[in-house]
Amino acid sequence: MNPLLAKLQPYPFERLRALFAGVTPSNAHRPISLGIGEPRHPTPAFIQSSMMESLAGLSVYPATGGEPRLREACAGWLQRRYGLTLDAATQVLPVNGSREALFAFAQTVIDSTRDAVVVCPNPFYQIYEGAALLAGATPWYAPSDPARNFAVDWDRVPPEVWARTQLVFVCSPGNPTGAVMPLDEWKKIFALSDRYGFTIASDECYSEIYFRDEPPLGGLEASARLGRTDFKRLVAFTSLSKRSNVPGLRSGFVAGDASILKQFLLYRTYHGSAMSPVVQAASIAAWNDEAHVVDNRAMYRQKFAQVTPLLSQVLDVRLPDASFYLWAGVQGSDESFARDLLAQYNVTVLPGSYLARESQGHNPGAGRIRMALVADTAECLEAAHRIVQFVQSRKSTP
Ligand SMILES: Cc1ncc(COP(=O)(O)O)c(C=O)c1O
Repeated sequence: MNPLLAKLQPYPFERLRALFAGVTPSNAHRPISLGIGEPRHPTPAFIQSSMMESLAGLSVYPATGGEPRLREACAGWLQRRYGLTLDAATQVLPVNGSREALFAFAQTVIDSTRDAVVVCPNPFYQIYEGAALLAGATPWYAPSDPARNFAVDWDRVPPEVWARTQLVFVCSPGNPTGAVMPLDEWKKIFALSDRYGFTIASDECYSEIYFRDEPPLGGLEASARLGRTDFKRLVAFTSLSKRSNVPGLRSGFVAGDASILKQFLLYRTYHGSAMSPVVQAASIAAWNDEAHVVDNRAMYRQKFAQVTPLLSQVLDVRLPDASFYLWAGVQGSDESFARDLLAQYNVTVLPGSYLARESQGHNPGAGRIRMALVADTAECLEAAHRIVQFVQSRKSTP
């Protein structure tokens, strides 16, 4: 067996199951889960039908690089969304969802014969850590700073760590914080990349669910604005899962530095990660339509506008820049909060400490919970009312 497998940490939902073992959820309330970040708005009918119309594609082996039409649809979306012109043949590559791509990317860019470090935000999407460990690298966790809208504090990474860093994961909009990385932070990261030579993987799968007027700044957009039009050492990861409510489709794309994508394509050819032609057809339809994305965003906006003020009466929480999460501060332990809430009100939330690692003596997720507002507004409101009652009843219990 690969000994690196033993380094993998239990997934947050495994830890949640262990935490909830032996808890009897209140049977006075029907269960509501704000735990899993899985989109639950309906999949648009036109995406389903474009899949059905493309079933003939099942009879051929797809190319790993995808059909030119798909790559052009992805490049077209980048043009409309960010005003960027990329070469669809060399700077865009379809992937089977961003999760597999984030993992595979680390396997492609890490040279484990040198003492490699991968810098991850903290808290973070767990795949970054597993990808780093299985690539033979050591993760280094850069804390997000609650005092600066949960911006990652890159200054906390010591120069000797940067000197060994081969890959940095950026997550903007962030999971779980919802924070969007501003241009100044990008400037800093690009300068560090120029100095130390690391690659930047910019995970942007929540880019279309936002609450401010201005859409979130993308990594490629930031790069171009700063005159880096070749996207040197930068690859952005984009997904249809949240944008188009198709987590089961497994479709996204990566875009950026052509020389890195060439190697990534080579890796993927051996790994066997070509996208089904049926999925490619549905993806083309999805990337070419924006109306459903506008409607989807409106649903999240309306939901967050109703739920956030309720919860902010009792929790340290406010509207994030983007994403479908609320990242809330609670009194006391996040684990006891989650366990007692399930027992008394049958609502599942994820303890924040499960989404972060202790680093430099501190777990930046401790004392926080993540709530995924993926169910419909009525269900999320019902959960919020129960959480308000729960916190108020806790306060009144000595
Ligand atoms: C931050 C982040 N990146 C990537 C993913 C993977 O999404 P997908 O593989 O569906 O594109 C998720 C899924 O929850 C996520 O939260």
